[in-house]
Amino acid sequence: MKDDECVRFMQWALPHLRMQWRGFRKVRRQVCRRVGRRLRRLQLPDVNAYKDYLRTYSSEWNVLDNYCRISISRFLRDKGVFECLGSNILSAFARMASTSEDNTIRCWSAGCASGEEAYTLALIWHFLLMQDYPGVDIRVTGTEVDQNLLERAEKACYSLSSIQELPGRWVARAFDLAGTQYCLHANFREKVEFTRQDIRHEAPEGLFHMILCRNMAFTYFDADLQQEILERIHDRLLPEGALVIGMHETIPGKAPDFVPWFPNMKIYRKKR
Ligand SMILES: C[S@@+](CC[C@H](N)C(=O)[O-])C[C@H]1O[C@@H](n2cnc3c(N)ncnc32)[C@H](O)[C@@H]1O
Repeated sequence: MKDDECVRFMQWALPHLRMQWRGFRKVRRQVCRRVGRRLRRLQLPDVNAYKDYLRTYSSEWNVLDNYCRISISRFLRDKGVFECLGSNILSAFARMASTSEDNTIRCWSAGCASGEEAYTLALIWHFLLMQDYPGVDIRVTGTEVDQNLLERAEKACYSLSSIQELPGRWVARAFDLAGTQYCLHANFREKVEFTRQDIRHEAPEGLFHMILCRNMAFTYFDADLQQEILERIHDRLLPEGALVIGMHETIPGKAPDFVPWFPNMKIYRKKR
């Protein structure tokens, strides 16, 4: 399929899915390849025929919705953000937890792909903070809509390209090499639990000290849906809790309760 043909198709289709073209500009080829394969499977001559197909069979929108998921992730993605989380944010929560009855720091990684971001928090806790806060623990909830990615998250085995930003010392102490895959040890895995959830409709139970919602809702979803997601996040975040969004994302329009905490790292604090 020609690029301009696919772009026009996506610009037509994405608003039906409550998504925005702007987020897809750079990654459109991935979506276009999937749509192209779908046309061949359905033996449709072009995207206009596919538009008709979508109009006739409304369940096809769910298929297209799946094709519009971009699952790129890696450990320690945007290193500076995680350095900041370790030295400023998680350490502050750990200090608070060490003097309170509730001695568990709870984090939510929304749209966690294969678990890279959620496990990164467990690694930071283990290698940078755990020793200084012996009575404190961390729990991370990873939510993701794609079942295949969740299965990979549970297995916690990754290619070298996924982990190469981690310090070599961490890799040596936290992973076992199995063939070409680096598999995370159980003591890191047990800090993290994964749940299949669609953030458009649901959120995990409980309240969190920190929520990471990076490179998903605030890139791909349309403005109204972004606002709904922000409200869902707001409900799940403790007062003074941290919201972390993607480096190229902005917090949607109406967010009076979120104040910049480390603005150049896209970390916000929920007002008390
Ligand atoms: C680009 S990845 C980002 C992963 C990680 N947050 C990061 O920044 O490295 C976006 C993930 O969000 C997931 N996702 C997309 N729509 C979702 C939805 N409605 N609910 C939950 N997860 C979703 C995708 O399947 C994908 O794994």
